[in-house]
Amino acid sequence: MITAVIYSESGGTFKTTMTANLAVALERMGQNTLMIDLDPQEGNLTSLFDAGEHRNDPDADNLVKHILDMPDGDFHDLIETTAEGVDIIPSHDMLSDFTSNLEQKISYETGMQNMSREEYPRFELLYDLLWKEQKLNEEYDAVLIDPNARAEDLLYNAIFALRTLIAPVKPAGKGNLSLEGLEELVGNMESQLDIEIGLSCVVPSGVGRTNAHKQYQDQFENTEAFATPVTIANRESLMDAMWEARGSAFKVIEERWKTFEKNGEMISESGQRRIREREVETLYKLYKLAWFIATDTFDADADPVLELNIQDYDNQVLDLEDDDKMEATTA
Ligand SMILES: Nc1ncnc2c1ncn2[C@@H]1O[C@H](COP(=O)(O)OP(=O)(O)OP(=O)(O)O)[C@@H](O)[C@H]1O
Ligand SMILES: [Mg+2]
Repeated sequence: MITAVIYSESGGTFKTTMTANLAVALERMGQNTLMIDLDPQEGNLTSLFDAGEHRNDPDADNLVKHILDMPDGDFHDLIETTAEGVDIIPSHDMLSDFTSNLEQKISYETGMQNMSREEYPRFELLYDLLWKEQKLNEEYDAVLIDPNARAEDLLYNAIFALRTLIAPVKPAGKGNLSLEGLEELVGNMESQLDIEIGLSCVVPSGVGRTNAHKQYQDQFENTEAFATPVTIANRESLMDAMWEARGSAFKVIEERWKTFEKNGEMISESGQRRIREREVETLYKLYKLAWFIATDTFDADADPVLELNIQDYDNQVLDLEDDDKMEATTA
């Protein structure tokens, strides 16, 4: 089973974009995929996919209630299916108060059981819910989490439950430093919780064509410290259009979503985007990344052929196992 937390220490490193695109790529590879949104802030995975209608309703059942073992309904009623076939457990406002709610639960339960607070397994709750209680491993081939890096208890629960990290990194002077932070986090969690955490790969993203960016890319691609199966270029227009298409970059191109000015107003419509080779190449890279994670990190059986059904345009087919073709189509 494929399980990964899309992790980055810093904000705005394209985690949400990456989670969405990887989830859709995995689904297209034949992996039944679930995304879990643990970020209560605006601009999260839930709003990207236009899910979580009741995320602001304090009375609505939500994931936090289930993690804290106080559900208000059936766990499966939390799961929604997006237009691209990937399932999502949406975010909810209550995720912001997770730690204070957890502290109350710990006070209550340790008081009842004559247990010290330190003994309470506070990072194991999501693990127990997903695998022991709900047995999601019997239902899904892949689970991806977009965490809220600041909410420590939730982040640790996510990492404890999924055990593998994918780290998008942005070109910046301190590119390397952010990875040192990652190694520290992994080391601390491994020794504190007595588990093994794996880093599937590092994905340099938003890389432009300047010399500084080129050097940055080389530095990451040439290191032995971790795998960097692909570099994702700076693709602001494509990735921003995901928020209008309400879905992945695959959807943006297949449905040809474009944002443009009309009578002094910015509008977004499908059927308008020009097909650019470099954007199609980015889809191939995202697919290749998902393929690496599925087959190299997790040894899963995944479909290497990406077929793009682009509106009013020739279908594009790419076979990741056919290197010549890869070069021909991405040249
Ligand atoms: N490869 C890319 N090149 C340029 N811009 C990108 C790229 N990928 C995503 N973006 C844009 O960058 C912005 C931030 O991306 P995103 O929301 O995925 O980051 P995040 O890490 O989830 O942020 P946060 O820490 O706030 O959760 C979005 O507007 C998105 O469209
Ligand atoms: Mg985000």
